[in-house]
Amino acid sequence: MALALPTDEIHLWQVATDRALSSDQESRLLDLLTAAERARHARFHFARDRRQYLWVHALLRLALSCYIPRPPESWVFVTNAYGKPALSGDGPRFNLSHAEGLVVCALADEVELGVDVERQDRRGDWEALARRWLAAEEQDELEKLPVTERSMAFLRLWTLKEAYAKAVGLGLSLPLDEFAVRVESEGGAVLLRQGRTMTGDWQLEQWRLDEHWLALVASLPSGKARRTVVRRDGGPLLGIS
Ligand SMILES: CC(C)(COP(=O)(O)OP(=O)(O)OC[C@H]1O[C@@H](n2cnc3c(N)ncnc32)[C@H](O)[C@@H]1OP(=O)(O)O)[C@@H](O)C(=O)NCCC(=O)NCCS
Repeated sequence: MALALPTDEIHLWQVATDRALSSDQESRLLDLLTAAERARHARFHFARDRRQYLWVHALLRLALSCYIPRPPESWVFVTNAYGKPALSGDGPRFNLSHAEGLVVCALADEVELGVDVERQDRRGDWEALARRWLAAEEQDELEKLPVTERSMAFLRLWTLKEAYAKAVGLGLSLPLDEFAVRVESEGGAVLLRQGRTMTGDWQLEQWRLDEHWLALVASLPSGKARRTVVRRDGGPLLGIS
């Protein structure tokens, strides 16, 4: 029986990718992809990146088919000018994110969605990124924290900002210092200031998933209350229990 996707819910499918698939399982998932998707899969240099790509795109197709009984390989996607994918034709909205060890796919009806996951131990010069990409009020908040807490706080801001940029559909074409978010507690966050051309209300959520931070942003069309996030294990869909 088809799964329901009530209009007041966002469903978040997640799969930890630190497991191996048999070659039979892997070819079953590859069979779900289009020739163009398979070609993109083959172009990744590292096996880890190929696996993330395969798992998240197979997960998206299999998850969509849980709600609308159609073969998973039959879904057709289009992208906007900034690369945000959507279904060609009717069906749920969705957004994907993958990081080492975790892939996620968020789905909801009639709202714009953006999701981002990052490993907590992500390396890189976060201080330079913070100076370059954070809004002034975000930098001020970071500086109020004890030095030892700042890199984690930066990562939480970063995932929220990427999720918002993905929800509005511009991705990193949206200057990240043009809008500002504030982390409230493990599950909460607010949008302090929108991008210049952005309007409307947005719901921001964030939580820790094992070794990752996850941020989820959804538009709140006028008059709609916040939506409940329902988390689903995508492992069984991919054939991993
Ligand atoms: C979209 C973007 C924010 C992705 O961030 P990321 O943390 O590297 O990667 P994630 O795993 O979280 O998300 C990637 C997925 O987001 C989706 N996506 C791509 N462009 C998107 C956009 N504009 N808005 C929302 N989602 C987008 C895709 O499904 C993509 O997965 P796929 O490539 O396997 O299909 C970023 O790569 C981007 O903006 N790219 C567009 C190109 C661009 O503007 N480059 C400028 C670089 S300075």
